[in-house]
Amino acid sequence: MEQHEHDAQADLSPRTKVVALGRPERSPGASLNPPVTFTSTYIQDGPVNYARVDNPTWTPFEEAVGELEGGAALLFSSGMAAVHAALALVPTGGTVVAPAAAYNGVVVSLTEAQADGRVTVRWVDVTDADAVCEALPGADLLWLESPSNPLLEVADIAGLTTAAHEAGALVVVDNTFATPLLQRPLEDGVDVVVHSATKYLSGHSDVILGLVVTCDDELRARLARHRTLAGAIAGPMEAWLALRGLRTLSLRLERACANAADLAGRLADHPRIARVRYPGWGAIVSIEVDGDGDGSAAAEALTAGTRIWSASTSLGGVESQLERRRRQPGEPEAVPVNLVRLSVGVEDVDDLWADLRQALDALE
Ligand SMILES: Cc1ncc(COP(=O)(O)O)c(C=O)c1O
Repeated sequence: MEQHEHDAQADLSPRTKVVALGRPERSPGASLNPPVTFTSTYIQDGPVNYARVDNPTWTPFEEAVGELEGGAALLFSSGMAAVHAALALVPTGGTVVAPAAAYNGVVVSLTEAQADGRVTVRWVDVTDADAVCEALPGADLLWLESPSNPLLEVADIAGLTTAAHEAGALVVVDNTFATPLLQRPLEDGVDVVVHSATKYLSGHSDVILGLVVTCDDELRARLARHRTLAGAIAGPMEAWLALRGLRTLSLRLERACANAADLAGRLADHPRIARVRYPGWGAIVSIEVDGDGDGSAAAEALTAGTRIWSASTSLGGVESQLERRRRQPGEPEAVPVNLVRLSVGVEDVDDLWADLRQALDALE
């Protein structure tokens, strides 16, 4: 984006930005939407010579998300590709302070890296700021996910970032659950934001993509180099679909968050719900189901008993989804076996509740 364009966008509401950013320059006859560029290479002597390095279809989505987060974004082939680019900032033999309960792909990656002797991991409860601070001296990186998947734990991002920087550690925040419309970690001094753009940013459960965002030019260059060398790049069609999905992020999120707040209240009163986890914002609600033994069979029966809610992994789409998380291999043991994660979609909330209630009422 040109500097003058950037300045013209800076004072806009995020609700306008999701619609307005990443458009082609206006001129008579120009298309309103960016084109999809399918190419593996470019005629030589231009700014980029190979499409593993850059693709013009990535740029509008990167510019839009970068502006929303307050930094420069780089698109990756998946959220996990973005996670691994960020983890590659840790030197071999380095130390990572990480949440004991977070997205299982991150926990498994760090566990295996530690088992291979590549890093040392200090696992912490990120809601216990004193414990995190005690773990920081000598660390290279503090990894945060807030709200976390699927326990919905919320960390003090600003306070922990200050403490991590005093200890000389970089801070990465996975902002997938919040999106930049609800939380902007770079404004708290965080070094790198990571997204699974598979979820809310694209919003229609039809692409796998990831992003990293940073304000630091040197970190951006290292992350871009990792992307090029690892080859963890997005297909142009997926990038275009993600930008199209982003256009409705504010509308989708507004409805989904309102639905989630409503459902969290109704669920709390149901006799088969032992606990509702809901941080008071966002569109994910996790519930613990009461049942014989450890409640896992009742939780499975709930997910099998709904008509509108789909029993499927993933989250952040327009469609409501639910899943007993411990059916996933690698899910941290801190996640109760009877926990069902609800990704609340944009359907009519009374229909969503009626569907959940009939499935809960039908439990033996
Ligand atoms: C919080 C969080 N981070 C990262 C990822 C990984 O993203 P992807 O599935 O796009 O690789 C996920 C996926 O569920 C997630 O929930």
